[in-house]
Amino acid sequence: MSEQRDQFSSKIGFILAAAGSAVGIGNLVGFPVAATKNGGGAFLIIYALFVAFICVPVMLAEMGLGRRAQKSPLGSYQALSPDNKGWHIAGLLAVITPFMIAVFYMVITVWIFGYLWHSVTGNLAMLADPEYFGQFVNDYGFVGFLVAVTVIINVILVGGVRKGIEKAAKFLMPALFIMLVLLVIFVLSLDNAALGVEFYLVPDFSKIDGSVINGALAQAFFSLSLGMGILITYGSYFSRRDDIVTSGKLVALTDTAVAFTAGLMTLPAIFAINPNTNPDTLSDSSVSMIFSFFPQIFVALEGVVGYFGASLAATVFFLLTFIAAITSLVSILEVPTAAIIEKAKFSRKKTLLVMGFAVTVLTLIAATSFGFIPAFTEFTSYAGQTKSVFDVIYDVFYDTILPLNGLLICLFVTLHWRKKGLEDELSEGNPNYRNTLLAKYVRISISTFIPLILAVVFINTVLTKFVGFSLF
Ligand code: TRP
Repeated sequence: MSEQRDQFSSKIGFILAAAGSAVGIGNLVGFPVAATKNGGGAFLIIYALFVAFICVPVMLAEMGLGRRAQKSPLGSYQALSPDNKGWHIAGLLAVITPFMIAVFYMVITVWIFGYLWHSVTGNLAMLADPEYFGQFVNDYGFVGFLVAVTVIINVILVGGVRKGIEKAAKFLMPALFIMLVLLVIFVLSLDNAALGVEFYLVPDFSKIDGSVINGALAQAFFSLSLGMGILITYGSYFSRRDDIVTSGKLVALTDTAVAFTAGLMTLPAIFAINPNTNPDTLSDSSVSMIFSFFPQIFVALEGVVGYFGASLAATVFFLLTFIAAITSLVSILEVPTAAIIEKAKFSRKKTLLVMGFAVTVLTLIAATSFGFIPAFTEFTSYAGQTKSVFDVIYDVFYDTILPLNGLLICLFVTLHWRKKGLEDELSEGNPNYRNTLLAKYVRISISTFIPLILAVVFINTVLTKFVGFSLF
């Protein structure tokens, strides 16, 4: 290799960057609401078990693969299986998936930026109008917000790993933690906040069924950035001297802790404003919670803390969500960036220009599929439902391909790279790893029940989404 590969400067730099990737909109709103609707503490326990016993091994496999190959996912699968072209498809999928996920996440991030802008400029009352979101998504203002978000992301990405991604994460992640804690303290001081905490934490095992279990696993898997090629890419920027195993565990812990803490903000806020809320009626969709429901909560706060106070709370909330979204977007765009630099031998700047153009065009197509352009809005239909371009990208890449990518990495480790290959890699920087219980557990699980479970999730999702038939 002629040029030294850019690397994270330290373990903490990697942990913050990877946690920045993992902590997203889903942690702040999707997770707390899902927990509350699906058995509170019972859901939390199941979720934590999935993180520890299913997600962490897959996470270590991705990071190990990337560090071994020192390449993007595309190059990693190729480098470790030069004579077996079948695996190259897994590499290709691990680059296309993040690119497409970036498109739908970009749309949501641009909206958040728009809402942040309007909260700062004193338009909170406008945001809370039930009709507003429908108008907002079909307004030309989108283009201005899109330009702003694109500039922010590229300013971070052009700096590379150490001077861009790591530097941004070291500043943004602590800011995120602080804002989250401040909001939790504020929300918990409101009357009736305890009701929300109760719904969130008290376990109700009668709510747990097959689909809740499937949902908890899917949420844990997505939340930790698995199956997106991100941890393969970040692993390739990880020093050989550093300890992948401890770092991976800390990333999982941070992501889960943020999701858990966010529940102490989201739920109490909902119940403080309306103590009679029936949790079952809360929307499953983070999008409708963030853009339709939350502005109404903030406006209702006006009675308690005045319009300025309410706007300030809304601003902190949207800023927090925006930071969570930006750090995820940066990580996911780094995957195709690394692959293009590697394969096309473009400079980083040229790569970002080419990719930025492609992402912008696709983002505009996805963003105009909410009524603005009918052909994109009623793009296709399956399982008896009309689907927009945005829906298709979400269903295919976010919901369906992620577990498939996770399955492929397990199969790759088991059938091709061999468990010993992974174990040797994980022992670098952590010489004692081989003798730990975790090593034993990873060795067994990654070639038996983890791929089996991921295969069942994948098949069930395909059937549910595209055929309209659910296994459980
Ligand atoms: N945790 C993220 C969320 O809750 C999901 C996610 C992980 C993600 N990595 C990502 C989303 C990268 C976009 C890009 O939203």
